Amino acid sequence: MDNSLLVYNGHIVDPIQDIDGIGSILIEKGKIKEIYQGKIKKPVNKNLTVIDVSGCYILPGLIDMHTHLREPGYEHKETIHTGTKAAIHGGFTSLCCMPNTLPINDNATVTSFIIRKAYQEGFCKVYPIGAITKGQQGQELAEMGLMREAGAVAFSDDGKPVMNSLVMRRALEYSKTIDCPIISHAEDINLSANGLMNEGELSYRLGLAGIPKESEEIMVARDVLLAKLTKGRLHIAHVSTKKSVSIIRRAKEEGVMITAETCPHYFSLTEDAIKDYDTNAKVNPPLRTLEDVEAIKDGLKDGTIDVIATDHAPHHKDEKLLEFDKAPFGISGLETAVSLSLKIVKEGVLSISDIVLKMSVNPSAILKLNAGNLKVGSDADLTILNTEKEFILTEDEIFSKGKNTPLLGSKLTGKALFTIVRGKVYNND
Ligand code: DOR
Repeated sequence: MDNSLLVYNGHIVDPIQDIDGIGSILIEKGKIKEIYQGKIKKPVNKNLTVIDVSGCYILPGLIDMHTHLREPGYEHKETIHTGTKAAIHGGFTSLCCMPNTLPINDNATVTSFIIRKAYQEGFCKVYPIGAITKGQQGQELAEMGLMREAGAVAFSDDGKPVMNSLVMRRALEYSKTIDCPIISHAEDINLSANGLMNEGELSYRLGLAGIPKESEEIMVARDVLLAKLTKGRLHIAHVSTKKSVSIIRRAKEEGVMITAETCPHYFSLTEDAIKDYDTNAKVNPPLRTLEDVEAIKDGLKDGTIDVIATDHAPHHKDEKLLEFDKAPFGISGLETAVSLSLKIVKEGVLSISDIVLKMSVNPSAILKLNAGNLKVGSDADLTILNTEKEFILTEDEIFSKGKNTPLLGSKLTGKALFTIVRGKVYNND
């Protein structure tokens, strides 16, 4: 029983095993050894560490399938060390990092570097996402097969779209042979025309160039058609508009193999967050309108949107202090995702079980990670949630280097009290 750990008396939610009730989990050598359903007597054994999590949920470790870790190359914004620390603090046991680093992760050497560095310095598990095209230039496919062999779990040019439909077609065709998804940053870059925020009355009033919703929707529609043509594995990133949700819903009804994600800011905030030119709310795709927020919630509720991902996009304070048009796009999201997602649980949009599906089970299934459940014998990756814990989000509360969130100063409810990765316990309280 050496090094054994008992996560005692929480409310276990594991939709894969159909568990939703009080229980305890025994962990040995980093693996789940036993699940005790129902109330058990608190054991007294000097070889057993007991964490009493009464009143908390015990969930399969959360997985963020859309993070920007910035390393290599932009270590002033984030590093693998700080980004994974933020992930743990936010309740994530695994994350997938996007390839828009410097150099870009478009080859197996960079993929291997990230995996090695994460193993040495990371707090949570890290799965790299490789670039679809060389240099994310959208012209020529990158060496996806070699990156896959090195450990990449998906491919995306995130931050940029693949504008050339033939290149996207080839990528989707190729995704079948290496059995992993192509993640689409759906944006018609010409239509976006260097816009800065959602196009509409507010953008006209603020005098800021707008990004029409159609910029996203046209590319969602195109990629759905290409997925149908190729039968490749398409995943749409950061869905932000009502029409995108309905295009994806319709595609799924027609049997197109497609999955989709949204991010907490798209169901929590509207474009109003930038009415005082707050660069911390400048993000791409941009924050939209209340109508879109409601449609995103509907899409989450009816299963059109499979995943909640953070699109954690940390930037240096000095960069976000620039004028609105010069500041980079992105919101730091790893440490607010749980609270914002729990808010829509309180509203009755999702259940805790749905949260587990969208933040653990589905990302694991889409990326074939062999995670997302609490089965005996699995790695002991657990998130312990206190859904009532309140805190004010201050810069000191954020472990990420990126403090760029429009939620600074707000009161948030719900926090991961403990994050457990391969049996190693991190106390976030
Ligand atoms: O706001 C964003 N920031 N959207 C993206 O697609 C990229 C990201 C970044 O890398 O900063």
